[in-house]
Amino acid sequence: MKITPLFLSLAMAGMCSHAMASAVDQNSYANINDVITTHLNLDLDVDFADKQLEGFVEHTLAWQNVNSRHLVLDTRDLDIDKVMYKTQKGRWKKADFALAKRDDVKGSKLTITFSSQAQKVRIYYNSRPEASGLQWLTPEQTASKTHPFMYSQSQAIHARSWLPVQDTPAMRVTYTARIQTPKDIRAVMSADNKDALYKDGDYHFTMPQAISPYLIAIGAGNLEFKAMSKQTGIFAEPEILDASVAEFNDTQAMIDKTNEMYGDYAWGRYDLLMLPPSFPFGGMENPRLSFITPTVVAGDKSLVNLIAHELAHSWSGNLVTNATWEDLWLNEGFTSYVENRIMEEVFGRDRAVMEQALDAAGLRAQLNTIDAPDTRLNLKLNGRDPDDAFSSVPYTKGQLFLIYLENQYGREKFDAFVKTYFDEFAFKSLTTAQFVTYIEANLIEKYPGVVSMDKVNEWIFEPGLPSDAPNPTSDAFDKVDAAKTAWLQGSTTAAQLPTANWTVHEWLHFLNNLPRDLSIEKMTELDREFNLTQATNAERAFAWYMLAVGNGYQPIYPALDKHLTSIGRRKLIVPLYKALITNGKREWAHKIYINARPGYHPLAQGTIDNLFSK
Ligand code: BES
Ligand code: ZN
Repeated sequence: MKITPLFLSLAMAGMCSHAMASAVDQNSYANINDVITTHLNLDLDVDFADKQLEGFVEHTLAWQNVNSRHLVLDTRDLDIDKVMYKTQKGRWKKADFALAKRDDVKGSKLTITFSSQAQKVRIYYNSRPEASGLQWLTPEQTASKTHPFMYSQSQAIHARSWLPVQDTPAMRVTYTARIQTPKDIRAVMSADNKDALYKDGDYHFTMPQAISPYLIAIGAGNLEFKAMSKQTGIFAEPEILDASVAEFNDTQAMIDKTNEMYGDYAWGRYDLLMLPPSFPFGGMENPRLSFITPTVVAGDKSLVNLIAHELAHSWSGNLVTNATWEDLWLNEGFTSYVENRIMEEVFGRDRAVMEQALDAAGLRAQLNTIDAPDTRLNLKLNGRDPDDAFSSVPYTKGQLFLIYLENQYGREKFDAFVKTYFDEFAFKSLTTAQFVTYIEANLIEKYPGVVSMDKVNEWIFEPGLPSDAPNPTSDAFDKVDAAKTAWLQGSTTAAQLPTANWTVHEWLHFLNNLPRDLSIEKMTELDREFNLTQATNAERAFAWYMLAVGNGYQPIYPALDKHLTSIGRRKLIVPLYKALITNGKREWAHKIYINARPGYHPLAQGTIDNLFSK
């Protein structure tokens, strides 16, 4: 059977220049024109003492080129022990392999050479403690303080640091795994987790649906499970399990609404894994098991759009996947759009619009700080690590593009288009150029005279925002603005601000829009009235600290120290370090960082090391 990745067959059929340029994944060494992996079988030991995964991975191969005798895999910082392969006749033999010199971005290319085309190949290896895609936590760094914890974060190009693999999202594999841990530890994966319900240190997983390698995921720690509904549940350390279940018990309603809008959820169960606070992201859409930061457990469901977001990836991202990391907006832009539609269905239009407005304001502020070329939806990485081009552009500019189309065509027609798009590309990877071809035929030309292809191309290939981009506004925020102005002008006191019914969103809008030259008296008045320095909602605390750093308001420093030392979510710490540095607090920030750094994930460490080395 010859299986050609979809984007390759289209590229070979001769597409426009955009496709030819981006159909090659510059972030991977894999020779997928010659051979592709169709299935992976992992057999790994979780070794907490040496902070390594150790064992083998077996690739089942489908050859594409009859003349090839090489399999080229992506690796980074792996020790390769030996490579065995099974011939087409069923005999196991030793294979020659060469591990190339490490490239800072791509890692080390692993070239395996066979004397005849192998049916299966087994690579015996171990990861290293510094693996960029794993975090190893000591018991002290967890909620329980009694057991160690480890988890993977493979997106974008970190799967290769714990698994020799064709690490490109153009690929899809099914997988099975046997994972061994200490007996009192439970392991889970982005797969069927039935076997993980019985804790015995020996776990078997099956993922029968083909997924891209960046979605292969593992976590292990002192985990318990609690069901939320028939289809959903949570794995978490016991200390945070009940609070997480209470916070996220709308997950089933979110699934039901999304099924109605975009077609049935394709993955069976949908569970959540609560990670320690050092998780560098808000969430990660690992199939069947989203990984979630505990910083969104606010007690009032104010931050559950994160769950809507990771769930939405079950359609945009996991089902329909970006072919390269230059096409990330196909994952994140669609997901941000669907996320907000879910929020509207489950929590109402007012809240959904507030979330749009907050994100749009965040984007507009960020656009001024990013190099123009990186404000295009279709990114040009030019050899960079996708992490280095990460911004809210693929997310919020992508979302605004889709809101724009929805406004132009109306919900009914636009929803039908999105649903057909998900159906058409289900379990496939596509490039931006393929998307352009698809939207031209299935939306733009289908309903002539509504939106031009020039407009589509402007959104996707030009920097910044089109002049007629949607600018979401919220009545609730208008009221906040009026109250804010009255207080700033001195016609009311802080106590008279109508905050009694403010949601976290209104607070965020208020704090984000206060001037950065407020008097100490004004800052003190706010803090005294609303106890902002002691805020427990992580997003609200973050917004207040940003304001306080911008205004040189000193009383926050002990609380800010605690925030920076106990949380590793990049979005909630990196802007604070930047603000401290630009506001003359570099030395203080560095002292905090030296202390906090060992608790941060390698990705966060890399980002913040860069800030201080400038
Ligand atoms: N898939 C992303 C995280 C990601 C993107 C990791 C690119 C590595 C490279 C995840 O779904 C995400 O977007 N998380 C956001 C959620 C937010 C927008 C609601 C986050 O972590 O903040
Ligand atoms: Zn996302």
